[in-house]
Amino acid sequence: MAAVILIAVAAMLVALQGGSGRAEVTGASDTEPVPVPAGGGPHADGGTHSDADGAVPEGGDIGTVTEVDREFLVAVRQAGLWEIPAGRLAQTNASSEAVKRAGLHLMDGHAELDQLVREDAQLLGVEIPNEATAEQRRWVEQLREAEGAEFDKLFANVLRASHGKIFATIGKVRGATQNDLIRRHARQANQTVLDHLEVLEDTGLVDAATFEEVERAVSG
Ligand SMILES: [Fe+2]
Repeated sequence: MAAVILIAVAAMLVALQGGSGRAEVTGASDTEPVPVPAGGGPHADGGTHSDADGAVPEGGDIGTVTEVDREFLVAVRQAGLWEIPAGRLAQTNASSEAVKRAGLHLMDGHAELDQLVREDAQLLGVEIPNEATAEQRRWVEQLREAEGAEFDKLFANVLRASHGKIFATIGKVRGATQNDLIRRHARQANQTVLDHLEVLEDTGLVDAATFEEVERAVSG
């Protein structure tokens, strides 16, 4: 058990030291989520993936993928598929500088997380979609049609509610998964979602009703 933990920690350190250019919020990112081929990827072979961010914890368990693990990867993929467009819309439609800044964090955070989820889904043989959910696509359309103060308010509240709910999901996944790759993925997603919660709260535009909505959703 101790050896497994040591190996997993070592793999995380390697990943963190890799030249992935993470965490710089430059505003220059225009990365679109890259489509994934239909039919999912090959099952984990553990031996061909050598770049730092995609390093598989050697000797770790990546063979057990539960339904919760699968749903988690799908949710991370779909988060990127709507939050990157939403963040981009903030750059043109928002009036608040804090909302524009939150949008930049969304674009950068999900560009990085989307690359990781595509790699991990392929390694684990999990099929992930190329389209956000119908609800998420509706949110993007609502944002596209809003501007100024109306956009700012909508953006802060819709995105804060969504992040509050997935933050709770990540805790469940991290607590229960037996899969070392999913553990690493949950760690990265947790950091990204926490950053997004904070920049959205920094807008000062999140209503009490939004927090209450999240409370009902996560305690249900
Ligand atoms: Fe996010």
